[in-house]
Amino acid sequence: MNIDEMKTEIGRLKKEKNAIILAHNYQLPEVQDIADFTGDSLELARKAASITEPVIVFCGVYFMAETAAILNPDKKVLIPDMQAGCPLADFATLKQVREWKKVYLDHVFVAYVNTHAETKAEIDICCTSGNAEKVINSIDSDKIVFLPDKNLGDYIRRKTGKPMVLWEGFCVVHEKADFDSIMEAKAMYPEALVMAHPECPRRVLDIADEVCSTGQMFGAVERHPEVRQFIVVTECGMVHALSKRFPDREFIAPEKQMRCANMKKITLPKVLDSLKYGQFEVKIDPVIAEKAKRSIVKMLEIK
Ligand code: 13P
Ligand code: SF4
Repeated sequence: MNIDEMKTEIGRLKKEKNAIILAHNYQLPEVQDIADFTGDSLELARKAASITEPVIVFCGVYFMAETAAILNPDKKVLIPDMQAGCPLADFATLKQVREWKKVYLDHVFVAYVNTHAETKAEIDICCTSGNAEKVINSIDSDKIVFLPDKNLGDYIRRKTGKPMVLWEGFCVVHEKADFDSIMEAKAMYPEALVMAHPECPRRVLDIADEVCSTGQMFGAVERHPEVRQFIVVTECGMVHALSKRFPDREFIAPEKQMRCANMKKITLPKVLDSLKYGQFEVKIDPVIAEKAKRSIVKMLEIK
């Protein structure tokens, strides 16, 4: 089957199975193109909470599909490749979180959504890169533990001025954001605006004009109608997402590209098989799911 035939077959199966396809902004271009909805973690979680279709094919990494399943216990949530994990989520194991809770007894535990369901079940409230500042500001305490991303934590700590205790985790893709490549791109495109994801280290965020979640990057482009070129410091799939929405602007990835191998595990043939064979269903222990849901819903209630 060629790409066009696959796309047609995916469209047919989607109708037959009454399914909806959600995709993260880092997905392969051809996967983004067949999705019914694309977005960042927060937008996808909000969308998942309001879906009517009985089947959700989630094109993203596992914690995202898991969040959709937690919010939709009566629906079938499928991920086309079970191996599409997020190494950042692995930094916060259940054992470690429980140990920290014994040490930081009177602290509010905030977990980035890039965590496993059992971690979400242990903490007080979730956040995404799109709402972390709002979530931290909503907490009526100066005793906060933030996990697992140290870069996002550091950035939000500086923005809010709240004395947060940070976990030592990081995203393997964003941690390697190459300062020199960004400086070279800035020299080559002096008029360009630099947009960086808050999972990048401080030295990179300090030279960015806008620090945004992937979803917020669209808003940043809209806020700067005079700017024609943007240097995009995040996973390379974002360049496709932005170019599609703003065909009259130029989006430049720094020369040393950032690529999330896990996001790229979801391919069109796997999406097709996912719909055809109902694979692979995300199943979560109902007790853990119920507890994790509380911290996700608390986050979603913050507008
Ligand atoms: P966003 O919520 O900004 O899309 O980020 C998700 C992610 O995994 C970043 O690496
Ligand atoms: Fe996880 Fe980083 Fe990939 Fe995002 S880019 S899914 S944080 S490994």
